[in-house]
Amino acid sequence: MASSSCKVAYKTTAINNRRYLGNKYRLIPFIKNVVDENCEGINVFADIFSGTGAVSSAFLDKRLITNDILYSNYICNLAWFSSERFSKQKIVDFILHYNSLDINDENYMTENFADTYFSREDCSKIGYIRQDIEDEFLAGVFNERERAILITSLLYAMDKIANTCGHYDAYRQGVEFDRHLELAVPMPKQNRRKNQCYNENANELVKRIQADLVYIDPPYNSRQYCDAYHLIENVARWQMPKVSGVARKPDRSALKSEYCTRQAEAAFEDLIEHIAARYILLSYNNMANKGNDRSNAKISDEVIMRVLEAKGTVEVFSESYKAFTTGKSNIEGNEERLFLCRCI
Ligand SMILES: C[S@@+](CC[C@H](N)C(=O)[O-])C[C@H]1O[C@@H](n2cnc3c(N)ncnc32)[C@H](O)[C@@H]1O
Repeated sequence: MASSSCKVAYKTTAINNRRYLGNKYRLIPFIKNVVDENCEGINVFADIFSGTGAVSSAFLDKRLITNDILYSNYICNLAWFSSERFSKQKIVDFILHYNSLDINDENYMTENFADTYFSREDCSKIGYIRQDIEDEFLAGVFNERERAILITSLLYAMDKIANTCGHYDAYRQGVEFDRHLELAVPMPKQNRRKNQCYNENANELVKRIQADLVYIDPPYNSRQYCDAYHLIENVARWQMPKVSGVARKPDRSALKSEYCTRQAEAAFEDLIEHIAARYILLSYNNMANKGNDRSNAKISDEVIMRVLEAKGTVEVFSESYKAFTTGKSNIEGNEERLFLCRCI
């Protein structure tokens, strides 16, 4: 592919230009405030259920450790936070090239998803671009971070036009596909902080890492993220599995989270026990026994407090920045709380 010699306009995209259940972008000022006002000497910040990476993006002055069980989130985290150098010009050139393509070939995407979440034509383009990123990477044209940035650009562009209400449990039948795939250039910063991005079960990872502060934002109800984002995950992994059912889902058994099941309290206890850090900061909302079965939080406040207090002293903050003491948490309405544990 030839490099663009004259200046061509292109769109850019930022970390929060993505729809993601439970993402904490809106809560960044609250989280940052609690950390800045209550935690000292934070050099290493670990975000071990990182999702989009929104919270990590507020701590770019720290060395970051990110982790998520979904490979698609790992790829986005690598794009935004990895310390590997990347060529912005190369990214721009490839994105302009991909946007200029007029493709209508059959591929894995057209065969399995034509006129479902995307039009047949957009499926053809998504499949072509994803394969091309892999081919160029294997040919040594991109390094890992450049590959991750281009996949991230593709995933964000898919999210913008998907015929869904933000997740992939269903698509609307018989719609006109009036928006078409257009990749934008992600704008991560170069950094020399030796950040690390992981893609594994947080309960295993904590046994090997050390951080000053570990931020924990697990799923809180029975809704599995691998179900909601199966198609984004499928394109990120690009292993082309068989899909089935109306929603066209692949086998996701290896990606199910214990935090969405009756094992959540045991998983949480095991996680906290193995954390090596001076501070633990937990985001958990107050929906225990409040909504229907699906929206009920899986870990009770009693268990959260018992487990954290076994590790240190605990203070709870509500979104309105009011701190209140142990055992007196106000649980009127649907509220996000931060549990700060100063580990002993
Ligand atoms: C509430 S979301 C995190 C949102 C994130 N803080 C953000 O701002 O985008 C929970 C995340 O935990 C991940 N997850 C679930 N179980 C996990 C596990 N056992 N280990 C690591 N990640 C897990 C999910 O894939 C999901 O991205």
